Amino acid sequence: MNELVKHSGLTVADDGNAISKGYMPGWANDFETEALPGALPLGMNSPQRCNYGLYGEQLSGTAFTANPPERTWCYRIRPSVKHSHRYEKIDLPYWKSAPCIDPDVISLGQYRWDPVEHTDKPLTWVTGMRTMTTAGDVNTQVGMASHVYLVNTSMVDDYFFSADSELLVVPQEGRLRFATELGIIDVEPKEIAIIPRGLVYRVEVLEGPCRGFVCENYGQKFELPGRGPIGANCMANPRDFKAPVAAYEDREVPSTVTMKWCGQFHVTKINQSPLDVVAWHGNYAPYKYDLRAYCPVGAILFDHPDPSIFTVLTAPSGHPGTANIDFVLFRERWMVMEDTFRPPWYHKNIMSELMGNIYGQYDAKPQGFVPGGMSLHNMMLPHGPDKEAFEKASNANLGPDKLDNTMSFMFETRFPQHLTGFAAKEAPLQDDYIDCWTDIEKKFDGTPGKK
Ligand SMILES: [Fe+2]
Repeated sequence: MNELVKHSGLTVADDGNAISKGYMPGWANDFETEALPGALPLGMNSPQRCNYGLYGEQLSGTAFTANPPERTWCYRIRPSVKHSHRYEKIDLPYWKSAPCIDPDVISLGQYRWDPVEHTDKPLTWVTGMRTMTTAGDVNTQVGMASHVYLVNTSMVDDYFFSADSELLVVPQEGRLRFATELGIIDVEPKEIAIIPRGLVYRVEVLEGPCRGFVCENYGQKFELPGRGPIGANCMANPRDFKAPVAAYEDREVPSTVTMKWCGQFHVTKINQSPLDVVAWHGNYAPYKYDLRAYCPVGAILFDHPDPSIFTVLTAPSGHPGTANIDFVLFRERWMVMEDTFRPPWYHKNIMSELMGNIYGQYDAKPQGFVPGGMSLHNMMLPHGPDKEAFEKASNANLGPDKLDNTMSFMFETRFPQHLTGFAAKEAPLQDDYIDCWTDIEKKFDGTPGKK
């Protein structure tokens, strides 16, 4: 076993290269890639005539004057106007957008769900999306939604894009392929994908059925968090994010494109694959990231920091330090703190916390929070370890202890999250979750020194 495998679980590619074939490393790099030699113009963006008869087109992911601007120049078989015709509205009743406040649903509470079960019904990336919570307002590009996806069927001559949002995809079961305008990304559990706003793609099932979680970010793009005194290394390192190399399709066949726009879904019919970008350059791209590359930083003597120390990506809001969304990872790590209650402490939080379990056991909840399951601790709702976790951690003989076989995450937002009707009435909600704190005893009797 080489050192890389030993420490992170990462493996090198089959050909022995540290850089996976088909991907380019580096978060927010200014990439350039071409599927045919000479397809990319040299030294300029918009030549009078592009090589191969391609059309030049810019995809802007930020305002032109953002600092830095994020945009990608595409050199494609047809301009995107040929991949967009008249739109018809369609209904996707399980994919909700904020504001979505169901008068019959109480969002004020601590909630936990078992995994949403697969069904025999064919479900694609678009029809298999099940919204659990929404926050903010999609029309003002503020807030987010959390979803579970259940996908067992590949999209065929069928494409999708969201003008509303960037999607952070967290697989929990099965393997998916995102065939995008800018290239191909394959993901499986322990990896994530980030699909930017406006990018057209098709999702195929490589190994199914597939289940996972999605954070739909209506706001500013995800970025790497500021590291402050931590310095240049550890946490999520920029080199571990991978953008795809250019890959195109020249296929003329009746096709459909579904577009999410202001919380509504629209479909347009075209006569070819829209994935026809032969070459591109720029810094607005999809990524994949292996969560096993995340190098956690934590406590090494006593106490422990807030969970923000485990932030992988953050999507800022207008208030510095107050995220529209933080994506936080709780993975394997050593616990060495002396004379310390090591699990997460009891707390109330102005931010609302949506958690999901990718695999293993979470230390604050040894039972009930299972792989594929989720929990929600909404704005200012108290929560913390259950009785079993409290007693165990309070009475343990503390020594170096490895939390192994554990990977959970949190979508934390500054906004309250509202449950959808699906989350409250159809998904496997654990009615007795709140009872996990019932057995916590009063220990105080006024005796000094009692512990
Ligand atoms: Fe919490």
